[in-house]
Amino acid sequence: MIELRAVTRRFRDTVAVDGVSFTLAEASTVAILGPSGSGKTTVLRLIAGLEEPDEGELLIGGEVVSRPGLVVPPHMRGMGFVFQQPALWPHMTVARNVAFGLGDLPRTQARERLAEVLAQTALTDLRDRLPAQLSGGQARRVALARALAPRPAWLLMDEPLTNLDGESRSQMLALIEQIVAGSETGLVYVTHDESEAARLAPRVLRMDAGHVTEEGAS
Ligand SMILES: Nc1ncnc2c1ncn2[C@@H]1O[C@H](COP(=O)(O)OP(=O)(O)OP(=O)(O)O)[C@@H](O)[C@H]1O
Ligand SMILES: [Mg+2]
Repeated sequence: MIELRAVTRRFRDTVAVDGVSFTLAEASTVAILGPSGSGKTTVLRLIAGLEEPDEGELLIGGEVVSRPGLVVPPHMRGMGFVFQQPALWPHMTVARNVAFGLGDLPRTQARERLAEVLAQTALTDLRDRLPAQLSGGQARRVALARALAPRPAWLLMDEPLTNLDGESRSQMLALIEQIVAGSETGLVYVTHDESEAARLAPRVLRMDAGHVTEEGAS
């Protein structure tokens, strides 16, 4: 469970997130919708542990992980991130990019998990390519595979379909749907696209000017 309690994050005179509270049930899927600048990415970064709140607190599984002066670091939160840009390591192959988060596993297990995730994201045949040799859609799948590999409790995705053409978008959406349906992984999906939100998430939080303005079924 993820719980935000009156969380505020300011950047100089901008209140990016203004006293936001909500609770996300374990393994649930929620979309965060809202116009540009409404605070969606900042909420996601607060959940990830990439931003520190100025006020309020954030709990994961009942434990306080963020409050002013305390931020449990991202890698200790059981979260996988997929950002707007795939941000792959350019000098590493697809397989090494995806295996990056598996360093804590014994080698045989890491190899097995890697093979499983590559198959799930249809990347097995591309495993030895470098990021520069991939299409935009393929690079997004690598970013998704990398996030999924360590079996995170939550996947945090920030407009992961930006700059993809129609066909790659629907492929990627179908893949995300399939991953979420068949697992215990929760998903927080940030978008400004109503149809993506409606397709993926039974629950939608709407943001405007740093507030959650509306909460409901998509
Ligand atoms: N690092 C930062 N420094 C200064 N201001 C910031 C920073 N990050 C975000 N902001 C400001 O906080 C507000 C919320 O930004 P945020 O990126 O969360 O919006 P968003 O809803 O994700 O927008 P978009 O849909 O364009 O991605 C904006 O006014 C933005 O300019
Ligand atoms: Mg954003």
